[in-house]
Amino acid sequence: MEIIIADNYEEMSRVAADMIERQLLRKPSSVLGLATGSTPVGLYRELVRRHREEGLDLSKVITFNLDEYLDLSPSHPQSYRYFMDENLFKHINVDPKNIHVPYGHAEEIDAFCQWYEDEISRAGGIDIQVLGIGADGHIAFNEPGSSLGSRTRLKTLTKQTIDDNARFFDDPNEVPRFAITMGVGTIMEAREVLLIANGAKKAEIIAHALEGPVTAQVTASALQMHRHVTVVLDAEAGAMLKRLDYYRWVFEEKKRLVPRLIGKVT
Ligand code: F6R
Repeated sequence: MEIIIADNYEEMSRVAADMIERQLLRKPSSVLGLATGSTPVGLYRELVRRHREEGLDLSKVITFNLDEYLDLSPSHPQSYRYFMDENLFKHINVDPKNIHVPYGHAEEIDAFCQWYEDEISRAGGIDIQVLGIGADGHIAFNEPGSSLGSRTRLKTLTKQTIDDNARFFDDPNEVPRFAITMGVGTIMEAREVLLIANGAKKAEIIAHALEGPVTAQVTASALQMHRHVTVVLDAEAGAMLKRLDYYRWVFEEKKRLVPRLIGKVT
């Protein structure tokens, strides 16, 4: 696991965008796993900028989003599909038929989840999976206690996640209680994982997830078992890590001596 401590949110977003861009240069038809939430907004903004100003080509990519709320239609302003359209898809040249976001109105949920897993396999598996982390340590909507081998399925959200999401809804009763989410096992099969986090409110859970025990109580901790994870944090989110000085030193040395190896040596 490589842990990069960026100075601020902008640098975090740029470093993450560099990793996606490098992946696209290596393989223009890359399969990208994507996350929603406030954390990746800067990353998506940077990818849009590079597409517009520097010709970054996303015409061949295939995308799979991590999750979607149950019973929200893709056009609902709080749905994750809507978020992705507004923050990324509308502004780049991705082929709409290559976009996959779990469908919140699926009637046969189990069959839909199996189809989603099969689609990921048919696409050749995820090359790089972008993740945020919830205040309770969740990745995607794998709440504490989720099996570390779990697959795409319906999950009941925790009170904390529901409360965290309430800020986006006018009526607290509208906040979804369920979501369709990739499992921890699904995420662990991505060839590469890029976890990003910013802000002081993530500092404690980041320290638990990255330096604490591997436990289903903090599903992000499963990433310690993954063969190729890069974590990009801003200074606030990294503040409670025990080995902070070492992570900073590695990043500074790489920036100075071998920038191409950032995110490459784990
Ligand atoms: C979003 C997702 C979630 C978020 C997490 C952090 O697709 O799967 O796990 O990454 O809840 O959300 P933010 O970035 O809003 O703090």
